Amino acid sequence: MRSLWLLSIISVSLYAAIAVQVGDKFKDSGKCKACHSHIVKQWEESWHAKSHYDNDEYFQKTINYVARKNNRKSLNTIKIECAACHNPRISVTSTTAEYEAIASLKLDKDSAATKALKSDQISEGINCVVCHNIDQIHDELPDSKRGIHRVSWMKSGIMSGPYADAKSPYHKVEQRPFMDTNPNQLCFVCHANDTSEEGHRFTSMQTEFNSATKQCVDCHMGPRKVGVAATLRDANGKVHNRLIRDHSFKGAHTESMWQGALNVEAKKIANAIAVTISNPQPHSLPSGFGSREIVIDAHYMSGKKIIKTETFSLTSHYVNKRGKATVPHLAAKTISSVSIPALGSKTFTLPTAVGADSVSVIVSYRLVNDEVREMLELKDPIWSKKMVIKKLNLAL
Ligand code: HEC
Ligand code: HEC
Ligand code: HEC
Ligand code: HEC
Ligand code: HEC
Repeated sequence: MRSLWLLSIISVSLYAAIAVQVGDKFKDSGKCKACHSHIVKQWEESWHAKSHYDNDEYFQKTINYVARKNNRKSLNTIKIECAACHNPRISVTSTTAEYEAIASLKLDKDSAATKALKSDQISEGINCVVCHNIDQIHDELPDSKRGIHRVSWMKSGIMSGPYADAKSPYHKVEQRPFMDTNPNQLCFVCHANDTSEEGHRFTSMQTEFNSATKQCVDCHMGPRKVGVAATLRDANGKVHNRLIRDHSFKGAHTESMWQGALNVEAKKIANAIAVTISNPQPHSLPSGFGSREIVIDAHYMSGKKIIKTETFSLTSHYVNKRGKATVPHLAAKTISSVSIPALGSKTFTLPTAVGADSVSVIVSYRLVNDEVREMLELKDPIWSKKMVIKKLNLAL
C-alpha cells in the first residue's frame, strides 16, 4: 500500500510541472553582476532576455491574437501556456476550468495566475536561473512535454554549470552534463518542437537536426575560449582562467549571422535562371519558429536599369479549422512549407525578362512573412527587414 502511494507521488511529481520559488538573492541577473558582469552584459543583448510578453512585439501580438480568436481560453491561460518555454520560472504552470469561469467574469484580479504573470520574478524571461538552476531534464517524458514541463529545479541558490571544481562564496555549484558534454539536451528542452492550439505540430527542430559533431552552442554561443567565468579574485588575489562561451545567443535576429549562412549559385537556362541554394548548417533554414522566410529577389537589368523583378518566397503557410490563413499557433494544418533541409540543397527557377542583359540575385531572410506580419500588424521595422545572405550577378 505504502509503495503504491509512493509510486503515485513519484509519477505525479514527474508529470506535473512543479514551480520552485527562486530566492531574492538569485532571481534576476542584476544579482550576478558583481562577479559575472561580462556574462550578464552579453546575455542582456540576447533574445532570451527579451522573451517576456512585454518585451517582444511579435510574441505579445501573437498571444493577443490567439486569445482573441479562441473563446474557450482566457488571455492569462494562453500566457501561462506560452510561458512554459518563454518564461519558465513562472509560479503557476496551468489553469483550471474554475479559473476560466472566474476569468470570464473578470473576477480574477487577485488570483494566483494573475499575480504570477505580474511577478517581477519572470520579467527577465529566459534568464540565468532558467538554465543554471535546472537539476534534471526528463527525456523519459513524452516528446510534447517541453520547457517547464520537462525539467526539475535545484533548490534555490545552487547553480548547475560546466565545471566540477568551481567554488563560489555566493552560491553552491553542481556540475551537469547538459552544461558541458551534452548541451543539446538543454537547448532541446525548448527548441525541439512546438504544437498549435489545434494539436498541429508546426515545427520540429529536433527531428530535422543532423549533426554528430557540432552542437547548438558551437554556433549560437561560439567556440570555447580562454577567459574567466567569474571576475572575483581568490584568497591569493588571482582570477581563474577557464574555457568559456559567449552568452549573447546570436541567431536569426542578428543580420551578421546571416551573411554567408547559405551557399547560392545561379545559372542561365532556357527562358529562365536556376538558383540553387545549399545549406551547410545542421538544421533546415528557414526553421525554428513558423512563418520565418527566405526571399530570392532577381532584379533583371538592362545596362544599369532594373527592368523587372521576380521574387520567390521560401516560407510556411498555415490555415485554421475553417481553412482560413492563420498564425502557426492556431494552425489546424500546414498548407505549404518550403525550406532548405540540413546539409541539403534545392533549385528554384525564375523566368527571365525580355531585353535583360544581366541579373542581380539577392537571397535574404525575414523574421516574419508578409501574411503573418500584416495579420498581426507588427510595427517594429526588424520584422520586415531583409537581412542579406548572399548577392551575385549573372550575365545573360
Ligand atoms: C539558455 C541557457 C543559458 C542562459 C539563459 C544562461 N546560461 Fe550560462 N551557460 C549556459 C551553457 C550551456 C553554459 C556552458 C558553456 C560551455 O560549454 O562552456 C553556460 C556557462 C556559464 C558559466 C561558466 C562560464 C562559461 O561561459 O562557460 C557561467 C559563469 C554562466 N554560464 C553564468 C550565467 C549567467 C550569470 C547568466 C545570466 C546573465 C547565464 N549564465 C545565462 C547556458 C545558459
Ligand atoms: C560574489 C561573487 C559571485 C556572485 C554574486 C555570483 N557568482 Fe557565480 N560564481 C562565482 C565564482 C567565484 C564562481 C567560480 C568560478 C571559477 O571557478 O572559475 C562562480 C561560478 C558560477 C557558475 C559555474 C558553476 C560551475 O560549476 O560550472 C555559474 C553557472 C554561476 N556562477 C552562476 C551565477 C549566477 C546565475 C549568479 C547570479 C544569480 C551568480 N553566479 C552570482 C562567484 C559569484
Ligand atoms: C527555457 C527554454 C529555452 C531553452 C532551454 C533554450 N532556449 Fe533558446 N530560445 C527560447 C525562446 C522562447 C526563444 C525566443 C525568444 C524571443 O524571440 O522572444 C529563444 C531564442 C533563441 C535563439 C534565437 C536568437 C535570435 O536572435 O533569433 C537562439 C540562437 C537560441 N535561442 C539558442 C539556444 C541555445 C543554443 C540553447 C541551449 C544552450 C537554448 N537556446 C536554450 C527558449 C529556450
Ligand atoms: C554549424 C553551425 C550551427 C549549429 C550546430 C546549429 N545552428 Fe542554428 N543556425 C546556424 C546558422 C548559420 C543559422 C542562420 C543564421 C542565424 O540565425 O544565426 C542558424 C539559425 C538558427 C535559428 C533560426 C532559424 C530560422 O530560420 O529562423 C534557430 C532557432 C537555431 N539556429 C537554433 C539552433 C539549435 C536549437 C541548434 C541545435 C539543435 C542549432 N541551431 C545548431 C548555425 C548552426
Ligand atoms: C515548446 C516550447 C515553446 C512553447 C510552448 C512556445 N514557444 Fe514560442 N518559441 C519557442 C522557441 C524555442 C522560439 C525561438 C525559435 C526561433 O527563433 O526560431 C520561439 C519563438 C516564438 C516567436 C518568435 C519570436 C521572435 O522574436 O521572432 C513567437 C511569436 C512565439 N514563439 C509565440 C509563441 C506563443 C504565442 C506561444 C503560446 C501559444 C508560444 N510561442 C509557446 C518555444 C516555444
